[in-house]
Amino acid sequence: MCGIVGVLGRHEVAPILVEALKRLEYRGYDSAGIATVQDGVLDRKRAVGKLVNLSDALVHDPLAGKSGIGHTRWATHGGPTVTNAHPHQAGRVAVVHNGIIENYRELRARLDHRTFVTETDTETVAQLCEDYLDQGMTPRDAATETLKHLDGAYALAFLFEGEDDLIVAARKGSPLAIGHGEGEMFVGSDAIALGPMTNLITYLEEGDYAFVTRDGVEIRDAEGRLANRETRTIPAQSTQLDKGGHKHFMAKEIFEQPVVLSDCLGHYATADGVSIPGEVDFAQVDRVSLVACGTAFYAASVAKYWFEQLARLPCDVDIASEFRYREPPVSDKSVALFVSQSGETADTLAALRYVQEKAAKILAVVNVPESSIARESDLILPIQAGVEVGVASTKAFMNQLGVLANLAILAARQRGTIDAAREAELLTALRAMPGLINQALALEDQVVKHTAKLSEAHSVLFLGRGPMFPLAMEGALKLKEISYIHAEGYASGELKHGPIALIDKSVPVIVLAPKDALFDKTVSNMQEVMARDGRVWLVTDADGAAEAGDGTWATLILPKVDPILAPMLYAVPAQLIAYHTALHKGTDVDQPRNLAKSVTVE
Ligand code: M6R
Repeated sequence: MCGIVGVLGRHEVAPILVEALKRLEYRGYDSAGIATVQDGVLDRKRAVGKLVNLSDALVHDPLAGKSGIGHTRWATHGGPTVTNAHPHQAGRVAVVHNGIIENYRELRARLDHRTFVTETDTETVAQLCEDYLDQGMTPRDAATETLKHLDGAYALAFLFEGEDDLIVAARKGSPLAIGHGEGEMFVGSDAIALGPMTNLITYLEEGDYAFVTRDGVEIRDAEGRLANRETRTIPAQSTQLDKGGHKHFMAKEIFEQPVVLSDCLGHYATADGVSIPGEVDFAQVDRVSLVACGTAFYAASVAKYWFEQLARLPCDVDIASEFRYREPPVSDKSVALFVSQSGETADTLAALRYVQEKAAKILAVVNVPESSIARESDLILPIQAGVEVGVASTKAFMNQLGVLANLAILAARQRGTIDAAREAELLTALRAMPGLINQALALEDQVVKHTAKLSEAHSVLFLGRGPMFPLAMEGALKLKEISYIHAEGYASGELKHGPIALIDKSVPVIVLAPKDALFDKTVSNMQEVMARDGRVWLVTDADGAAEAGDGTWATLILPKVDPILAPMLYAVPAQLIAYHTALHKGTDVDQPRNLAKSVTVE
């Protein structure tokens, strides 16, 4: 996802903009740039690749000025080149943009008297605005008029030649924060970008646009009416970006899991069991529809087992990009549950909009309570994971599971499908989870012993049964996204229906299997792999290891856990395997190639 910053400062802004862009690096990008106004003159500098390339360019050819905008671009329309990098300039205006201008072709055709130099959708915004300036409009009016003609999703910031004290900012579909300082003002994609400058933040709402000057901000709603938006003080820890002594944010986030899960469970626990911040009566519900993307989809897929087994509640789980176009019938007695770390994933948001007015209730399990998905839901269930910087989601997955487990237990109680003893047992098992995760983290050295070998593989299979099947898919996703090794997750029982054809000694098979009611069947699947020279890395508990016997390539023994909650514990070795394999491969763990932290485009 692209990142935006803007500064109307008291000092030279170029270094401040670059520092702020560094804090947005976690979102993923492939080029970056800044524009400043100095003595009324607009100038810009852009570079492909990491921010260090932009910094180097600025060392050789500095940009002066106390007002500026900056951008990290994740290429959508047009490749990652200097020409396509933001800010885009047309005459007297420079623009940075996050999102997609859907009607950019139509606008380009309308502006055929102008010369376009990039392949981007964003350039049309700058050209259109310059066209209005040519017609004699003021910068404020030109930007306002431009916004009226844009379809799609955007966060935008405009900077104008001759205007040293104005940034026009706008939000539709992509979040944008205004930061308040002493005699200086800021614009940022999120509060994290602005953390070192200010923690006094006003979030624009959908359709808002704002005239930002050093004296403050004038916000207008989609209809152009003056709007009052709350200004909040963001707690310092919510915008802190440090690796806490770890080599990568991902490692820090893996090791934070016992603490953040404990916080999350505490948030939903009362003396009487589970409590959520609002009313949902699952006894009146005929179906739960879970919708999400990526890792959040795998958390939702684990939860399907929980809702069905514990609460006996029929449950669908869908990938958001499929759900929205499948046009599924939605019962007015159903609960629709959207799971998203960022709360901004375009497909998940669109799927949510599809069920609005159809489902009885819309619940959002999110990490960012100010996000679009949270705002458009009936009830927000925060996962309390804190900022997740690593593109590969780890602690957010854990806490999504924490919230969903609580919700399934609540549903089971309301529907009378578990008795008080089983509920107490499950809650005790959940409370014990952070401690068990600590024990799993202590096995890191044992994981490391085998990851050098794993890093030589071209393809890896993960197997699991029951709620461990979605975890197998999550383990495969973690490995492929950060190590670039091809990996697939399969239901163990599905192996002989095709994937077993892949097995030979070059394809490691990681089996995630606590000793549960189906363990002997999983052992048979392992035997099938080993009989074909396959190398099995079994992750199990002591009873499972004893029953599986010899012949595995590696065995990792985790503490015993209630099998239904096992995906939470077994997620930890899956994450560590991916992380250490990636370390061996020397890939960019926190910002893997081609990926963005949050995917705000379709
Ligand atoms: O912010 P979201 O949870 O909606 O993001 C969904 C996926 O894009 C995300 O989980 C992605 O798959 C991660 N890179 C997985 O590690």
